[in-house]
Amino acid sequence: MNKNVYIETLGCQMNKSDSERIFGILSQCGYSKCDDSKDADLLIVNTCNIRQLSADKAYSLLGKWCQRKKEHPDIKIAICGCVAQQDKEQVFKRLRGVDLVFGTHNIYELPDLIKMVSDGEQVCAIRKEPYKANALDYPIERAEGVNAWLPIIEGCDYFCTYCVVPYVRGRQRSRMPEEILEEAKRIVAQGYKEITLLGQTVDSYGRDIDDDSVNLSNLLRSLHSLDGLLRIRFVTSYPTDITDELIQTVKELDKVCEYFHIPMQSGNDEVLKNMRRRYTRAQYLEICNKIRTAMPDVSITSDFIVGFPGETQEQFEDTISIIDEAGLDYSNTASYSPRRQTPAATWRDRFIDEKTKKERLAILNQKVKDYSLYSNQKCVGKVMDILVESSKLEDGKIVVSGRTRSNKVVHAQGDESMIGTIVNVKIEEASTWCLKGKIV
Ligand code: SAH
Ligand code: SF4
Ligand code: F3S
Repeated sequence: MNKNVYIETLGCQMNKSDSERIFGILSQCGYSKCDDSKDADLLIVNTCNIRQLSADKAYSLLGKWCQRKKEHPDIKIAICGCVAQQDKEQVFKRLRGVDLVFGTHNIYELPDLIKMVSDGEQVCAIRKEPYKANALDYPIERAEGVNAWLPIIEGCDYFCTYCVVPYVRGRQRSRMPEEILEEAKRIVAQGYKEITLLGQTVDSYGRDIDDDSVNLSNLLRSLHSLDGLLRIRFVTSYPTDITDELIQTVKELDKVCEYFHIPMQSGNDEVLKNMRRRYTRAQYLEICNKIRTAMPDVSITSDFIVGFPGETQEQFEDTISIIDEAGLDYSNTASYSPRRQTPAATWRDRFIDEKTKKERLAILNQKVKDYSLYSNQKCVGKVMDILVESSKLEDGKIVVSGRTRSNKVVHAQGDESMIGTIVNVKIEEASTWCLKGKIV
């Protein structure tokens, strides 16, 4: 009998990519994807644990589903991802209606787990180490569109003092280049035009493989040769992993977009040290300068945390000033949230109060917005290559949307047939979050 599965995906692109794999595996177990949770026989929340807010969101959703289960006792409820990996059986204590908890390393065991749950068992499956499986043996149900995610490296070895990722995703593991290339070929054969390579520290790709030729530059070169593929991106970069060779490779290869996401976290050296980030403000600036010298039209984006334990007002101001100094086109911002198992969470005597954190966040957000507008305004008058991703009807006209090589969103009047192609757009208008122009 065919059943429906609904997945709510929270968190980063890695989770989105995992959900596509989960859909693929479940399709082999007789489940079809549904877009409305009300139609689902199986409800899954794929969780993010990066901040308390993200974890709370997952539990509030589960709570709602468990409530629904009282009227529809046949539905099954599951939680996976980065909260599941840390909370394990504790989930059942909070919410008895949950049927299945599975971790970030258990995706390939799903057929067995689903069978147990269908037989009425309550199951918690959390592996400490990844399950050895060949990803190519499993179907993937990717989100439709122009862009496809391709994870190349999982986990993280950096252990920044605030971050839960190494505890919930495990140590760094690079996939073999042959496997990645084969997956990329399948992606292109399915009609996708852009591939985004994923990893928590994507440019440390290959460091855990005993072969010097396995690195991001060489991987980009081999993917570049795929016919039909128009663009390649990669996220997220760790500042000091960006080698001169990588910068040269991005510059040389037409399909590789001039876009770097390089989280800095703080503009102050003392805070960076306490965060156990392995670079200084000066080093970060030097990396940005090198990239910009090689590629003047590049976009560099970043992430920042405000209110890290012990952060003074002066140290916070170093974060504000780095936005202009490094010319950061856009930044994600967050207020520090203590995470279980991480060292910084024990530094209670140095915690910053919520009010100060909120104020600092608001100031930083304004700064980021101002710079984003400024950066977008610099595009006005230029003709930019846009890979068209979607179209919609607006006031009786068809407006297409896509992104520049530098990852800026652009809207222009066009038609549906342009989806999946690159068009030239003369930029006429800039706002904080997007650009508008005319196809030329
Ligand atoms: N691997 C990336 C970041 C992954 S997590 C890197 O090294 O930069 C995504 C972002 O979440 C981080 O860049 C950081 O800004 C934020 N973040 C991580 N832990 C956090 C915490 N405990 N509180 C607030 N923000 C956090
Ligand atoms: Fe977390 Fe640091 Fe690893 Fe990024 S590099 S995932 S912030 S531990
Ligand atoms: Fe969140 Fe896990 Fe990604 S904690 S940011 S979903 S790796």
